[in-house]
Amino acid sequence: MKLKTIYVCKDCNFQASKWQGQCENCKKWNTLYEDVINVGKKDKTLSKTPRQLKQVVNLNTEKSVLTRIKTGIEEFDRVIGAGITPGSLSLLSGEPGIGKSTLTLQIAYKIAKDNKVLIISGEESIEQIANRAQRLKLESENLMAINEFNLENIINIIENQKPSFVIIDSIQVISSMEIESTAGSVSQVRYCTEKIMETIKNHKIATLLIGHVTKDGNLAGPRSLEHLVDTVLQLDGDRYHQLRTLRSAKNRFGSCDEVGIFEMTEDGMLEVPNPSAKFLADRDPNALGSTLTITMEGTRPFVIEVQALVSPSHFGYPKRSANGFDLNRLQMLIAVIEKYAKINLQNQDIYINIVGGLRLKEPGADLSIIMAIASSFLKKPLGHDLICWGEIGLSGEIRQIIQAEKRQKEAKKLGFTNIISPDKHKRISDAIAKIS
Ligand code: TYD
Ligand code: MG
Repeated sequence: MKLKTIYVCKDCNFQASKWQGQCENCKKWNTLYEDVINVGKKDKTLSKTPRQLKQVVNLNTEKSVLTRIKTGIEEFDRVIGAGITPGSLSLLSGEPGIGKSTLTLQIAYKIAKDNKVLIISGEESIEQIANRAQRLKLESENLMAINEFNLENIINIIENQKPSFVIIDSIQVISSMEIESTAGSVSQVRYCTEKIMETIKNHKIATLLIGHVTKDGNLAGPRSLEHLVDTVLQLDGDRYHQLRTLRSAKNRFGSCDEVGIFEMTEDGMLEVPNPSAKFLADRDPNALGSTLTITMEGTRPFVIEVQALVSPSHFGYPKRSANGFDLNRLQMLIAVIEKYAKINLQNQDIYINIVGGLRLKEPGADLSIIMAIASSFLKKPLGHDLICWGEIGLSGEIRQIIQAEKRQKEAKKLGFTNIISPDKHKRISDAIAKIS
C-alpha cells in the first residue's frame, strides 16, 4: 500500500496535489481539505466483485413492490415520505448533541415491533444504549444492538443477521482496513458508505446512517455523501432550546417540502403535532415588541412569535443583532422603516429574537419584524388578536407572498381577528398606523 496526501474540494470533489485557496474546478474558495489516498496496488476486492447481470423490465408491467416501513412517528414518516423504503440508504445529519441518537433509538424501537432491527453503534457502548432505552421506557424484543466500528465486521454482521432495518451511528467513527486514513476522513467516510450501500441494496435492507455536521454544515464527511445516498435528513435546532426541526434536503422517495417538529424533553424526542398552539402558549400579549406571524414550513402553516427590543444606544454606533433572522435583511428593514415610516432609529440599539430557537428565513416574515420594532419603539403592545405577514420592498410597500390563503385559513382557525397582510395594507406606514 502506497499512500499519498491529496487535497479534495468538498463541493465538487476535485482533487489537487497541493493545497490551494481556490478550487481550480468550481472556483470556490476555501473548499479544499487534506485527505490521504492509497496509490499503491488497486484494491483487489473491489475489482474482483462480479457484477450480476440484471434483467431489463417493462415499466408498465412492473408493479411497485415497495412496502414502506412506517415508524408511527408521524413527524418522521411525513418527512421521509410515507415511511422508510426498503433497500434505501438515508443519511441523518445534524450537529453533535442535537438528538440524532435519541431520535433514531425511538425509531428503532417503533420499527422493531414488527420487524427485525439492528443498531450498530461505534459511538456508544451497549450499556449506554440500553440505559437510554430504559430511561425512555422503550421496549421491544426484535431489537438488536452491537458496538462495532470496523466496516468489514459491520458488513458481516448485516449479512448474517439480515435485519429489515439498520441504524449505523455514526459514519464518522467507522473505518475500513482497506483504507489507510483515519476514521472520519473523506476517503474512509466515502468508501464505507459505498460498501454499506452495496450490501444493503443487495439485501434490500432499509438503512439509516448518522453523520455529524458542524453549525455551518461544514464537515468533510456528510456533505460529500449527499450525492451517494437516497435521502438526506437534517435535524436542526438550537441546542439550548427544546425545539427540533427535521427536514429532507434530498429525497428520492418523497417530497423535500415537509418538515417534522419535535421537542427534546426528559422523555426523549416528542412530536409536536400542533406547533402553533405551542408558540402561543407562553406568549404575553401585552409585552412590548412582541408580534406574531404565520410562516410556512413546507405545506404546513404555523404561528411564530417575533420579538424586538429597541433601546437607546450608549455608544456612538448603534448595535443591531438578530437571533434566528438574517442580520443583513434586518439592516435593510431598519432603513425602510426610517425612510417610509418616519421613525428615527439612528441612535437606537435593536435586538431581534425568533422565539423557540427557530430560524425565520422566508421574506413573508419581514412585516412581523417591522411591527415588532415599531411596537417596541412606540411602546404599544400588539395584543393577542393581531397577526401579520408580508414581504417588504425597498420603497416601503408590503408585497404579496406565497401560500397566502393557507396562512389566512390558519389565522382564522386560531381566532385572529386583526390580520395585517398585503391584501388590506399596501404600505408599512398603513400597517404601523394600526398600532400608533
Ligand atoms: P443525542 O441523541 O445523544 O445527540 P446526538 O446523537 O445528535 O449527538 O442527544 C444529546 C442530548 O440530548 C444530550 O445532551 C442529552 C439530551 N437528552 C435529553 O434532553 N433528553 C433525553 O431523553 C435524551 C436521551 C437526551
Ligand atoms: Mg449520537
